[in-house]
Amino acid sequence: AKPAPLRIMISGAPASGKGTQCELIKKKFGLVHISAGDLLRAEIAAGTDNGKRAKEYMEKGKLVPDEIVVLMVKERLMQPDAEENGWLLDGYPRSLSQTMALEDLGIRPDLFILLEVSDEILIERVVGRRLDPVTGRIYHLKYSPPENEEIASRLTQRFDDTEEKVRLRLQTHYQNVDSVLSIYDDIIYKVNGNARKEDVFAEIDKALSSILEKREKMDSAS
Ligand code: AP5
Repeated sequence: AKPAPLRIMISGAPASGKGTQCELIKKKFGLVHISAGDLLRAEIAAGTDNGKRAKEYMEKGKLVPDEIVVLMVKERLMQPDAEENGWLLDGYPRSLSQTMALEDLGIRPDLFILLEVSDEILIERVVGRRLDPVTGRIYHLKYSPPENEEIASRLTQRFDDTEEKVRLRLQTHYQNVDSVLSIYDDIIYKVNGNARKEDVFAEIDKALSSILEKREKMDSAS
């Protein structure tokens, strides 16, 4: 029988590489990627009331209120695909109240990955980031350039990816991160996110593979 699926959280400052690592983790481990930011941008694109309200906060680099975010993420986590294949929660929880909402539901990850990146690098990553609206892939003009002219010509930039806005997002991150970390103290895995994306992934791969190996051994012993 297959071991129980992985349940992973990934956290880090804006542009620390969460989305980039999630693409790689998803490809290797088949987990369902649930990004709070992506869910909110989908609400904005659909023109819902929640989307309109959320955008006001996102433009200021502030956290979107719990009454919008908590239910949105909970519903996605409880879908059958996430229960069956395991999940990779990206950018959630981001405050003590969001963390406690999960704890109250008995939802706890196997590992809480924290990507650590210096502020100067974060700013450079935000300003150079581009997105492919067709495939959803994340690019960077310098570090992960598009493969060809056709892709290059259709790349878009996020509305909150300016130096001024990322400074506000960073402030919000530093105000909240310690309270979240305090709840997951025993399962935090810190990774040096300044390194090349392949090297960052190698560190994450090691940790996730080791959890799965242990589970397989326990299952075969029982
Ligand atoms: P969200 O969309 O989650 O944004 P974020 O946390 O600011 O993170 P990013 O998506 O900007 O960056 P990332 O870490 O995924 O980096 P990426 O891989 O793209 O949230 C947006 C907003 O939504 C928030 O400000 C808030 O308002 C709201 N929100 C979201 N969650 C919420 C919650 N839980 N509660 C309330 N509100 C919430 O990489 C960045 C760039 O660097 C890319 O160009 C990439 O190619 C490049 N890069 C990545 N890794 C490397 C590397 N190792 N070396 C070189 N370049 C790299």
